[in-house]
Amino acid sequence: MHSVSRISEARAWLAERRSAGHSIGLVPTMGNIHAGHLALLERCREECACSVVSIFVNPLQFGAEEDFSSYPRTLERDREALAANGCELLLHPSTSEVYGAHPESSTSVHVPGLAESHCGASRPGHFDGVATVVTRLLNFVEPDRAYFGLKDYQQFLLVQKLAAELGFATRIVGVETCREADGLAISSRNAYLSEAERRKAPTLHRTLRAIAAQIAAGARDYRQLAAEGGEGLAKAGFALDYLDICHAHSLEPAGPADRQLVILAAALLGATRLIDNLRVVLDSSSAA
Ligand code: PAF
Repeated sequence: MHSVSRISEARAWLAERRSAGHSIGLVPTMGNIHAGHLALLERCREECACSVVSIFVNPLQFGAEEDFSSYPRTLERDREALAANGCELLLHPSTSEVYGAHPESSTSVHVPGLAESHCGASRPGHFDGVATVVTRLLNFVEPDRAYFGLKDYQQFLLVQKLAAELGFATRIVGVETCREADGLAISSRNAYLSEAERRKAPTLHRTLRAIAAQIAAGARDYRQLAAEGGEGLAKAGFALDYLDICHAHSLEPAGPADRQLVILAAALLGATRLIDNLRVVLDSSSAA
């Protein structure tokens, strides 16, 4: 595996692969590589001749009170895991390489609507940081395809919208959430959970599944279902940020005629913010 921190070096290496006719796939990450990232890399390898992973802990997507300084940085271990799993190019640029000397005052990208709701409402500026770094990474690498985990479903929709509206030729691919055996969505932040919190954490996924089962059985009062789910989480010891049942593409509140839904939730367990979602597709024969 070739490993570079300079964008100019990555570009030169990629130009050779492109001129040999190889398709290029990008898996953007913030490092601390886990099974979820490796599932993105595996899909990338299935679909592209050349797999690129970026590791960059993006300061612009962390709020002032958030965990930017303590976010796990494990470059050596990540390098081994990526090399062992068929990554061909690792790009791990510095902050000044990505943003120049003044990240806060450099050009940023805002995706109206999707950047402001749900996680965007409780983490102001977060999605501007994501949109800005993803735009830059797509420009640096110019991949044919780029891979994002569906655990961060709102992020996936936002990246799809920005890629379409800014005219990137890159196809944005969503990859299903990887879960622990008990259903907890795999995330770097799970490492922050105490043992007792870790035991409680799968309740989030179980709650979403219970709501999905009620919808499949014909329940259509989505506000009521979401409120009950939220109460259950609060009783289990979560501090709920939101639990919403939405249209799967717009993330607007779902109506009874909608067929493609997503149940989205974010909640704190102690100091750890967990997010999860479940998509539900109702076919025309579903009970109404
Ligand atoms: O999902 C992530 O790890 C990050 O938000 C991303 C897409 C790598 C941008 O920093």
